[in-house]
Amino acid sequence: MAKNWTPDGWKAFEAKHLPKYEDLAALEAAEKTLSTYPPLVFAGEARALQAELAEVCHGRGFLLQGGDCAESFAEFHPNNIRDTFRVLLQMAIVLTFASKQPVVKVGRMAGQFAKPRSAPTETQGGMELPSYFGDIINGIDFDPAQRTNDPERMIRAYSQAAATLNLLRAFAGGGYANLRQVHQWTLDFMGRSPWAEKFKDVADRIGEALDFMEACGIDAKSVPQLQATSFYTSHEALLLPYEQALTRQDSLTGDWYDTSAHMLWIGDRTRFEGSAHVEYLRGVGNPIGMKCGPSLEPDALLKMLDTLNPGRVPGRMTLISRFGHDKVEAGLPRLVRAVQREGHPVVWSCDPMHGNVIKAESGYKTRPFDRILAEVKGFFAVHRAEGTHAGGIHIEMTWQDVTECTGGAVAITDERLADRYHTHCDPRLNAAQSLELSFLLAEMLNLEAEQRRAAA
Ligand code: TRP
Ligand code: MN
Repeated sequence: MAKNWTPDGWKAFEAKHLPKYEDLAALEAAEKTLSTYPPLVFAGEARALQAELAEVCHGRGFLLQGGDCAESFAEFHPNNIRDTFRVLLQMAIVLTFASKQPVVKVGRMAGQFAKPRSAPTETQGGMELPSYFGDIINGIDFDPAQRTNDPERMIRAYSQAAATLNLLRAFAGGGYANLRQVHQWTLDFMGRSPWAEKFKDVADRIGEALDFMEACGIDAKSVPQLQATSFYTSHEALLLPYEQALTRQDSLTGDWYDTSAHMLWIGDRTRFEGSAHVEYLRGVGNPIGMKCGPSLEPDALLKMLDTLNPGRVPGRMTLISRFGHDKVEAGLPRLVRAVQREGHPVVWSCDPMHGNVIKAESGYKTRPFDRILAEVKGFFAVHRAEGTHAGGIHIEMTWQDVTECTGGAVAITDERLADRYHTHCDPRLNAAQSLELSFLLAEMLNLEAEQRRAAA
């Protein structure tokens, strides 16, 4: 257990990107209500995820973490949850089948509401209002009432997270994720992508393997892993009043856990020495992710690791690098070497989204798909060169047939960005682009395995 730590101890530290609430009585009331509500996850589940991640730490397995940049109240619908889950299953299948490694599945779902913003206010037509900080804090519409920070929104976010998690658990364990369903996980509109054909091929081969095993007496009755999967949730631990209200002491171990999700991560803008967010996360037992960008020096990273994982527990820390396609090969090796030298066990994961944002000529914020793929390739190249395991991917994606990132096999051009640009925040990969990415990842993982065999 962390020393000298209390769930509200972060309040004595410097908190960046926390909203200011005008109505402090309303804030206190919302926190009080939340602290009496049931935890969303159980500490034992967070430990199970940590054990799966420990395997990835040791080079066995791959972390797939993905979902919306920001969830919203407006898009809360069972079909959205099902279809995001389905794209993740599809990616997981490609990765598991092609790389022959277990895949740890973690959604950016059921709680990914709060957003750090570069500017605290936004000006439109001469009017200045607070920026949109995510539906858990204020509303996206540009009017004074909507943009007012409202603590009641935390209660609504909790309810939405609870219902989302409930459905995800039902899908993961109730038959939807049964390997026999693999053909059903393709979305209709994906027929246009050449990768949909390749997926069908994988699905056919899995079906055949299952038929063969069934003839040998192995089926879902004898091996329950065939009909269920473990699926975990995660979000950026940004809104500390919300996280604190859901912090509970595990009845089995006495340790503190943030029960708002299985895994929490700390963003690039809130990880610094003396940060309230670091102080909070150091005391909870969940697996923790940390974004690592070009501004992070190796020494600062090591200090963070000593603070967040003094016991050097494998599976506790996932480092999510986000350098940009042109910086990853120059910037990442020094971090990898420092961590190796100090012997800190970590999962290295790649966020190829956040370092590759550009403003298109059309004025839309976009992420060129070829740069996303280039960062992934660079990430794998660094780990091959350093002899470390490229252990995961962190992406912003959606099942919707959106046109937010340019490029891909069903090419989205700059002019077409306007067609279906729906995101509440950053541009996301659509289902076809996500599938294409998973085939590339599988290829890279196989390259790594080949090199490891050759070295053995
Ligand atoms: N239980 C195994 C796993 O989660 C196999 C499995 C069942 C699976 N359904 C799945 C794998 C769906 C990926 C996607 O890995
Ligand atoms: Mn984002």
